[in-house]
Amino acid sequence: MALEMFRKEETLAMRKKLIGQSCRLFYSDDPVKIVRARGQYLYDENGKRYLDCISNVQHVGHCHPSITQAATTQMELLNANSRFLHDNIVQYADRLAATLPDKLRVFYFVNSGSEANDLALRLAHQYTQHEDVIVLDHAYHGHLTSLIDISPYKFQKLTGQKEWVHVAPIPDIYRGIFREDHPNPAQAYADTVKDVIDKVHQKGRKVSAFFSESLPSVGGQILLPKGYSTKVAEYVRSAGGVFVADEVQTGFGRVGSHFWAFQLQGDNFSPDIVTMGKPMGNGHPLSCVATTAEIAGAFTANGVEYFNTFGGNPVSCAIGLAVLDVIEKEDLRGNSSRVGGHLLDRLRQLQTKHPIIGDVRGVGLFVGLEMVTDKEQRTPATDAAAQVVRRLKEEYICVSTDGPWENIVKFKPPMCFSMEDADLVADRLHHILTDMERSHQKLDSGDLRLKEEYTCVSTDGPWENIVKFKPPMCFSMEDTDLVADRIHHILTDMERSHQKLDSGDF
Ligand SMILES: Cc1ncc(COP(=O)(O)O)c(C=O)c1O
Repeated sequence: MALEMFRKEETLAMRKKLIGQSCRLFYSDDPVKIVRARGQYLYDENGKRYLDCISNVQHVGHCHPSITQAATTQMELLNANSRFLHDNIVQYADRLAATLPDKLRVFYFVNSGSEANDLALRLAHQYTQHEDVIVLDHAYHGHLTSLIDISPYKFQKLTGQKEWVHVAPIPDIYRGIFREDHPNPAQAYADTVKDVIDKVHQKGRKVSAFFSESLPSVGGQILLPKGYSTKVAEYVRSAGGVFVADEVQTGFGRVGSHFWAFQLQGDNFSPDIVTMGKPMGNGHPLSCVATTAEIAGAFTANGVEYFNTFGGNPVSCAIGLAVLDVIEKEDLRGNSSRVGGHLLDRLRQLQTKHPIIGDVRGVGLFVGLEMVTDKEQRTPATDAAAQVVRRLKEEYICVSTDGPWENIVKFKPPMCFSMEDADLVADRLHHILTDMERSHQKLDSGDLRLKEEYTCVSTDGPWENIVKFKPPMCFSMEDTDLVADRIHHILTDMERSHQKLDSGDF
């Protein structure tokens, strides 16, 4: 099969013309054209191999043969509307149920994380008969209108906050209002949700749901302090609401130690609704909502059928089952713990060498590296993070950034990521950061550069930014030319370094 139909420039030109420009590409200045993939590797049109640290959808690895086989076998046999009775959907629901707390026993299959979260909103509303929703700051829960409304990451740039939506502080112990030195950040952050609930009540409104990713990802690869969700669930339930865990990014063993990231909160914690998506079908559009019999019962009681044309069809469920099998057979959770742990260790070693790394955090293969311009103030190093992304791309390693200031370099690779891959990433990152630091030093010490050319000058002025010339009076024309020539040379060199610093791809 031909890997390319069009040359890269043609594809790009057609895409510009035919595809909505708000559908952005990775590396929009110089996009990568990927024509095939395997495992954790992507291949461009010239056969160049990229290490993929971005694709948390191709969970068990790109084009895994077991997944392809399961899809084709089922597709050759039957793919039908999910209103016909079929084994796959019940078998898959049963397998999923085994991974979840006992109370989450009813499943609705849909086709995207957004559909799952939209349905979760409906379920919560129907069950509680309340309207208001509490979300975490900078959260993202999907692209449907209902979800833009509960995604501060989006609505702050668009329509603004609806009166039924309330935002609680993100429990970020590195940058948030309560930090790592707080004696009990879990309780302190949970209390902020309690405060929000109180305010909702003061307005005469009622809470339907608290929505949160189990590890806020768009918010900056945040680890919720242990105990936070249990406390929040207690407050929300006593206000008559339900707790929705968005596991769209974090589920299916990404955290290694557990199948679901909400389980990091402890055995005693269970959400009332769990939404899942991205990794579920390894790239096939397959998503789901799991909930309790009581919530599902209230949804049924409204008498209106829930019908989803593609959700839970035999092919989707065959693929979902194959994904579960591969996770188990290849011990991908164990791999996530081991390789993720090693990656974290290597990045923490880099943190001791490079002051620009403010924080390294994560669990399993959900890892974030927060870049700051100064460690004390924790000022976000947004440009430097973008530069790291660009420079890593030159080394054929794909990463991206996240967080309110886009200063967190994130690693969410396919779960077959290896120790060698982790080492490669850390080694290249070390090299790039060392190079960036050198360019910076060079840029900071302009007047020292004239000394290297055996020309002595000094600086003055309140900001020490005036280079002064007060030579002996016998200074010659040739001396003047020499100084001017050297300064021209040095400034040109500094400008080049600056561009290098700005564009990374120099
Ligand atoms: C946490 C979270 N929830 C929901 C969604 C929406 O999923 P989808 O793009 O499959 O609709 C996303 C997508 O990025 C997500 O990251």
